[in-house]
Amino acid sequence: MPVGIIGGTGFSEIPGFEPEREEVATGFGAVPVFRGELASKEVLFVPRHGADRRLAPHQIPYQANIAALHSLGCTHLLATNAVGAIREDIEPGHLVVPDQFLDFTTRRPLSLAEGFDEEIPHIDVTNPYCDYLRRLIAEQAWAMGLVIHQDMVYVCTEGPRFETPAEIRMFAQLGGDVVGMTGVPEVVLAREAGICYASVCVATNYAAGLAPEPLTAGEVYELMDKVRPSLCELLTEVITRLDPDADCLCRR
Ligand code: HPA
Repeated sequence: MPVGIIGGTGFSEIPGFEPEREEVATGFGAVPVFRGELASKEVLFVPRHGADRRLAPHQIPYQANIAALHSLGCTHLLATNAVGAIREDIEPGHLVVPDQFLDFTTRRPLSLAEGFDEEIPHIDVTNPYCDYLRRLIAEQAWAMGLVIHQDMVYVCTEGPRFETPAEIRMFAQLGGDVVGMTGVPEVVLAREAGICYASVCVATNYAAGLAPEPLTAGEVYELMDKVRPSLCELLTEVITRLDPDADCLCRR
């Protein structure tokens, strides 16, 4: 049972992982999947922004990525996401594990059943992120001495622009902790496919209006470059300890 990784902005390679590329055809189009071994486990790596990293958040084939991983037998999926911090105690460089999301996307696929004449699945998302994977990530991050914020609320915007300070103030009032552009619908589609899913977010910047200067994509990449080595080590440790038969709320 292979473990999946969907690598976000600034996360496209893992030391020790030397995969083979394959094109996986799905009902939503073909996507590149990189298959190899990490920590003696079979790992399927999907670069969220495409093999040449050119897809903007609203152009990502979310359905095809999840359908491809599902068709290859993936049962557990770890995602990385760059986010802006809405709270001041989440500093650039800190890790964040969401347990809830607020969906402010506007024109993305909502379901794997879309476009098909199937019964519309009303899936339960009381706990959208896998509790077992979230705990495993937090435990390994603590063991490595990394700063990690658990049980955070991820706000997903449509992008590709950053937010206005007024939007960020609204998200803060609504209970948002971090803001990104790629977490939804990925987490929802994974649940539809029956895949346990958790995200390790990297706070790359303070959200608009919280920082003294306007935001740039450059600062997001720069911060990701700094955090990438510990993020790679963290994911490797998580995969080493991941028990595919562990009990979790998603499977009950
Ligand atoms: N907003 C939205 N997406 C992001 C940000 C942000 O501030 N930083 C990294 N991804």
